[in-house]
Amino acid sequence: MIIQSIKNSFERAFSFPPSFIVRAPGRINLIGEHTDYNKGYVFPAAINKYVYLAFSANVLSNDTRIVAKDIGESASFDLSRISKSDKSWKNFLAGILRQFQEGSHALKNFNCLIQSTIPIGAGMSSSSALECGFAKGIAYLNNIDISNWELVNMSHRSNHEFLGIKGGIMDQFASLFGKVDKGMLLDCIDRSYEYVSIELENYQWVLINTNVKHENLTSGYGDRVQECNEVTSLLGFDSLRTLTINHLEKNRIKLSELAFKRAQFVLKENERVKLFAEALRNKEYEEIGSLLYASHDGLKNKYEVSCKELDLLVDLAKEHENILGARMMGGGFGGCTLNLIKKENIITTIDSVEEKYFASSGIKPESYIVKIVDGVTIL
Ligand code: GLA
Repeated sequence: MIIQSIKNSFERAFSFPPSFIVRAPGRINLIGEHTDYNKGYVFPAAINKYVYLAFSANVLSNDTRIVAKDIGESASFDLSRISKSDKSWKNFLAGILRQFQEGSHALKNFNCLIQSTIPIGAGMSSSSALECGFAKGIAYLNNIDISNWELVNMSHRSNHEFLGIKGGIMDQFASLFGKVDKGMLLDCIDRSYEYVSIELENYQWVLINTNVKHENLTSGYGDRVQECNEVTSLLGFDSLRTLTINHLEKNRIKLSELAFKRAQFVLKENERVKLFAEALRNKEYEEIGSLLYASHDGLKNKYEVSCKELDLLVDLAKEHENILGARMMGGGFGGCTLNLIKKENIITTIDSVEEKYFASSGIKPESYIVKIVDGVTIL
């Protein structure tokens, strides 16, 4: 359905059909939050919310044209002179085009139409899906042989160097490497990873969106990156990954209370990722739920990247007997909670949390029952 509608929209915009469509998924992160840029463990999975990008070479005119269907905007690029604009969606694409240029790849002009089903600002990483899908499409169109890891690097470099977003590699990795019904246990220090089956039997992953996005996401995120770097340089370590809890305790005196809390969270969260993978393999759902709550507790009290709306959703989850665990997901300061919910009466459970959230906060939430899917695919 959506594919036909994208083809039709493309044809209306450019007068001929697309050559191919790239489907790039958003992601959830099961556990391991704010650990990727600390060279720790993460455990993401690609989900059935997608950015679709339809492409064809542009043989009719000497420029590259891009239509962002959902927001009714368009852009045109001169591929020999890529510069920043005042629109963030264009900058995500410009950054990727720059990466191809810096790799000395000669690119054909092309037409592209973008349509997305990933809610913006919900913490499902629509921007990484956009970047990775766009990069994959350009490589395919120009017959450039490029690995998924190189695409992760391109997007990561573009974020750091062109856009000034100092994120880790989790989101790009999840969008590109996703596999149906598998979580991915990634070690960000050496990039080794393992697919772990997610067979939840009587349970289901559900995202509940606070529908708030606080201003301090960008500044708060940057502050945490800096605070963690300060700890490692003060204690003389390359990254928090090589520091043990024991060593941290022993050196507590050298650190401010705040720096100690941040590092303590990261070290504990890394441990939780490993415990979580084990619990998932053993189908220990109560344990999975407890680890989710423990992760949220650390993100709220030690790492301080939650907000009152996320905390409210987690408190409501704790009150409901059909919810085994919940935590904020992604960068924080808004977006979604990830919940492990019993399949039986799932709609009633979700409705009850939504109603109570609305009654307390006055904000209408949204919920998504998510499926774990394959990574970026050319259709
Ligand atoms: C954002 C970043 C990721 C990661 C998460 C927090 O999604 O893009 O790299 O740091 O926040 O875990």
